[in-house]
Amino acid sequence: MSKQVIFATGNKGKVKEIEMILADAGFEIRTMKEAGIRIDIVEDGKTYEENALIKVRAVAAQPQAQGCIVMADDSGLEIDALGKEPGVYSARYLGEDTPYSVKNAELIRRLEGVPDEKRTARFVCAIAAKLPDGGEIITRSTIEGRIGYEEKGSNGFGYDPIFYYPPYGKHTAELSEEEKNQVSHRGKALRLMKEELKKI
Ligand code: IMP
Repeated sequence: MSKQVIFATGNKGKVKEIEMILADAGFEIRTMKEAGIRIDIVEDGKTYEENALIKVRAVAAQPQAQGCIVMADDSGLEIDALGKEPGVYSARYLGEDTPYSVKNAELIRRLEGVPDEKRTARFVCAIAAKLPDGGEIITRSTIEGRIGYEEKGSNGFGYDPIFYYPPYGKHTAELSEEEKNQVSHRGKALRLMKEELKKI
């Protein structure tokens, strides 16, 4: 079984996180760019799983990906009081190029007057892998928390400054990379994927 993995993302931060988690199982990770694959993928699925599958299928169809495991993730933030918005549209919420300071301020504004116990939210992550024999594996995980009242912390990315994680009493942007990997939706979904891949 090949241990060569191509991760379908342009996001350097994600690749670093994935390397930290998968390297000890002997997987060698490359980005699409490092594998010489330059394609635009339209992520028009209605669920995280569909989007992750769209990405791995498109990359696995490229000649450079033959014999490799192709992996991709799709993730988002679900806020219960907003009907699970922004959800699968998290990256596109208020426009793809809008700074997160603006997106975060708007979400806090929309939750004005909503008490603590109703500010529940979660990050969700689905990971798909397409194997050299065409087989597909999907894992999913979440991290449960609440939307805070202001931005806190400067680590992480995206919605981390407004996501309060009760077990640590901190916003996820206040956690170190290692602390976040231990408990994050992506970290947990990746570890589940690692266990699945070890079986084959
Ligand atoms: P993706 O990169 O297409 O999966 O888009 C996921 C979007 O969800 C990101 O652009 C962020 O807006 C949000 N998101 C997903 N995971 C996290 C996280 O760990 N912290 C903060 N925001 C996240």
